[in-house]
Amino acid sequence: MCGIVGAVSRRNIVPILVQGLQRLEYRGYDSCGLAVHAASPDAARPAGLQRARSTARVAELLAQVQTEHIEGASGIAHTRWATHGAPAVHNAHPHFSYGPLADGADGRPGRVALVHNGIIENHEELRAQLQARGYAFASQTDTEVIAHLVDSHYDGDLFQAVQAAVGALRGAYAIAVLHKDEPHRVVGARAGSPLILGVGQDGAEHFLASDAMALAGVTDQIVYLEEGDLVDLQLGRYWIVGKDRAPLTPAQRPVRTVQAFSGAAELGPYRHYMQKEIFEQPRAIADTLEGVQAVVPELFDGPGGTAAWRVFKEIDRVLILACGTSYYSGCTAKYWLEDIAGIPTQVEVASEYRYRTSVPDPRTLVVAISQSGETADTLAALRHAQGLGMRHTLTICNVATSAMVRECELAYITRAGVEIGVASTKAFTTQLAGLFLLTLALAQSRGRLTEDEEAAHLQAMRHLPVALQAVLALEPQIIGWAEVFARMENALFLGRGLHYPIALEGALKLKEISYIHAEAYPAGELKHGPLALVDASMPVVTVAPNDALLEKLKSNLQEVRARGGVLYVLADADTRIDSSEGIHVIRMPEHYGALSPILHVLPLQLLAYHTACARGTDVDKPRNLAKSVTVE
Ligand code: G6P
Repeated sequence: MCGIVGAVSRRNIVPILVQGLQRLEYRGYDSCGLAVHAASPDAARPAGLQRARSTARVAELLAQVQTEHIEGASGIAHTRWATHGAPAVHNAHPHFSYGPLADGADGRPGRVALVHNGIIENHEELRAQLQARGYAFASQTDTEVIAHLVDSHYDGDLFQAVQAAVGALRGAYAIAVLHKDEPHRVVGARAGSPLILGVGQDGAEHFLASDAMALAGVTDQIVYLEEGDLVDLQLGRYWIVGKDRAPLTPAQRPVRTVQAFSGAAELGPYRHYMQKEIFEQPRAIADTLEGVQAVVPELFDGPGGTAAWRVFKEIDRVLILACGTSYYSGCTAKYWLEDIAGIPTQVEVASEYRYRTSVPDPRTLVVAISQSGETADTLAALRHAQGLGMRHTLTICNVATSAMVRECELAYITRAGVEIGVASTKAFTTQLAGLFLLTLALAQSRGRLTEDEEAAHLQAMRHLPVALQAVLALEPQIIGWAEVFARMENALFLGRGLHYPIALEGALKLKEISYIHAEAYPAGELKHGPLALVDASMPVVTVAPNDALLEKLKSNLQEVRARGGVLYVLADADTRIDSSEGIHVIRMPEHYGALSPILHVLPLQLLAYHTACARGTDVDKPRNLAKSVTVE
């Protein structure tokens, strides 16, 4: 999804802008660009705003910038993920405003340069107003209206102009803006999309970015801007005003030191980040569970100091809100929460929940699950639930500094580490680990967990890294399956009970990165529709743990075989399902009890990964998708 970098310094900041964009590449994008105040104008190139844009990779933008000798001490940069207007150079950011046509002939230098993340809902109305005032539009984006709006309000002070312009905007935005007459100034604003401020060398230079990772190696001194904030970056000083437009003190927006991200972006021996992240799962789970000696509510205490045990006493049900892969971890947790903790649990796709009329219950624990902690729909759904009077909120999140963590009463931070591949893998399994712990903590607070059960569950959790390693060793067999799948255009995934969400996640992984159409069904539903699709060209992947539903699942497999369907079964060692004609079995370790979904998802991740490699797709940046979906 879109990424922003901005800088005000005394040195040439183009390398920092480009490096920042490269660090944001993992979010997914289809075009990129930057604009600077020209630092050393020469005869061939007049002073003022200069811009480069590209629909290729950031590396190509860098080549363009070098060829054109673009340098400057203040600037803004952007990776775009198209929403309004196709991915094309004229729609790429930064957008310029040249002022109304009445102010001069075409070919004039840009007056305002602006980058934007988010969606402006009233852009059509604003566009019509600006056109009536003589502004010509060069793109189909909603963003361009903001550039012209800032220009229309400009009267010698960029900060005032931005403040006036954002007052007219409806929707979500994080923006960074330059004006040609104020060479050492960048103004930023956020409402609904993330934006952070970085304090650089000796406090003399300052940066803006969508996340702290974009500034890795530049500064670790970060101020997290909040909803409605406006920020004014100048040489040696910065200034923040809150949504009521009153200046804020340093105590209200403190500078925090963030952890260095060293090593996160190194591929090491792997071909892709996704492969690296699949193989990092034993370590990620170990890190996530590090220090968990016992099931205690304190594990979920909030960053603001709220005690989880108090909250757990005040709730009777759980409402899980999430998107994408995080939604499937929530679906898995529903089985645990109802079975082990005996607590009624509802799981909702965040983008649906936020817009439907639901029946709120103040004795609900709202659980927002998110890798990034910045997904727009999940944040909006969380706020919607809070607005309905459900004040008990908890997030399972991989980014400790994210909006989700800041806005929830309680939190469990997974320690998956930075996840770069767009298709989520290690974030999913660490979420499951966090959700299982939450299940145990709620079971305990409701008197449903004996000491022996607690000890047995904790022992199984501690053993997970070793068990996962054994599953990863199955990779060569999965590569064999992937060679077959690479030639297919459809696939069906089956699971039952606790493993139905794992089948859903397996199908999602395959479609995301290999572009094969894949669907998942609870196996018992086969004869209510999907069986009609089964023939020799429809591989049927089945997750077959040795649980209470095994015999029922075996009957479902017979139904597939009887129609000539070819089965690919991930069978626990103790299931007695063997390979035979039309049935390919990969033997998993012995059944792992309630934690079995964490093991069974790994071969499905590897199957998607190797199928995508065999088809030659862009595994880490699949077409049309983004890592962090910060717009609705
Ligand atoms: C995007 C990503 C998915 C992710 C989903 C939710 O669609 O491509 O991998 O599962 O967003 O993201 P979150 O950061 O909230 O977990």
